[in-house]
Amino acid sequence: MPPSRVTLVEVGPRDGLQNEAAPVSTADKIELIRRLAATGLTLIEAGSFVSPRWVPQMADTAEVLAALDFDGPVRYPVLTPNLHGFDAARAAGVRDIAVFAAASEAFSRRNINCSIAESLERFQPVVEAARTAGIRVRGYVSCVLGCPYQGEVAPEAVADVAARLSDMGCEQISLGDTIGRGTPEATRRLIGTVAARVPMERLAGHFHDTWGMAAANVYAAWREGVATFDASVGGLGGCPYARGASGNVATEDLVHLFAGLGVDTGVDLVSLVETAVFICERLGRSPVSKVAKAVLAS
Ligand code: HMG
Ligand code: MG
Repeated sequence: MPPSRVTLVEVGPRDGLQNEAAPVSTADKIELIRRLAATGLTLIEAGSFVSPRWVPQMADTAEVLAALDFDGPVRYPVLTPNLHGFDAARAAGVRDIAVFAAASEAFSRRNINCSIAESLERFQPVVEAARTAGIRVRGYVSCVLGCPYQGEVAPEAVADVAARLSDMGCEQISLGDTIGRGTPEATRRLIGTVAARVPMERLAGHFHDTWGMAAANVYAAWREGVATFDASVGGLGGCPYARGASGNVATEDLVHLFAGLGVDTGVDLVSLVETAVFICERLGRSPVSKVAKAVLAS
């Protein structure tokens, strides 16, 4: 049975902004997160403690986190690829972190400069330290429906990495279609294969919209039983100068999709679209999602 409740994880301030060519000020990031929290979203990925040489847009994550309330109803996870990042996250007072692996060797090397096996070894002490400190851990798996360097990725390879992260102590596994190559039928098969190794209620879907299939893939994954989906306000992400690059499925698309299915996400669509307009104005463009355009035109 498809789940009757769904949780949206807003990843715009991290996955959306990490690719932007022009810098976004710390004050604008904080304002974005404040507005997102006011829409009813309860999980907002706020940044990442990664090398500023690799991802300069996230270099001010500690400053952003200093403005957030970790004792309120909204959770603000951050990415931590190693103990270095975890120590910084802990010092900032976070209650939720995420480690990120890939189902493709080539992508793992490009993204985090090590093999899949090395990355899992590196995550083990991070997950242990987090759990000892009472910090929740999510594990990402990238390239679950295709890799930009390697092409096809077998669902079994995804299930292996997902199971390793889960066994290590990651409470939730987010399956990332990093390059948006998935289609609904491939998504259905993937979820079936992974759910045979990791319980369905611990899976999340993370779909990028590069080929326009993200909302359809969310629908397919939901029909299989997935109840948590990542999305970014305004469809943030990608770079306007990089051909084919695209962001996550827009959060407003999912709020609309699930409203039509009678599934309440708890998010106010109009204030979400106003938030999309706010951040997109700062980036010098309009929200890309059709739902945002339709709400603005109505
Ligand atoms: P490395 O160069 O192999 O690391 O990078 P290293 O341990 O050899 O250290 C090299 C330098 O980086 C040192 O500095 C370290 O201190 C520093 P130096 O001595 O040369 O001055 N360093 C750090 N600085 C800040 N924070 C840290 C940190 N660690 C080391 N945590 C590393 C390895 C993982 C750090 C690097 O490859 C990196 O930062 N990669 C960034 C990866 C990233 O952020 N990718 C985007 C997020 S993943 C994603 O978007 C996919 C997802 O959305 C799901 C999907 O769509 O599929 C989640
Ligand atoms: Mg992503």
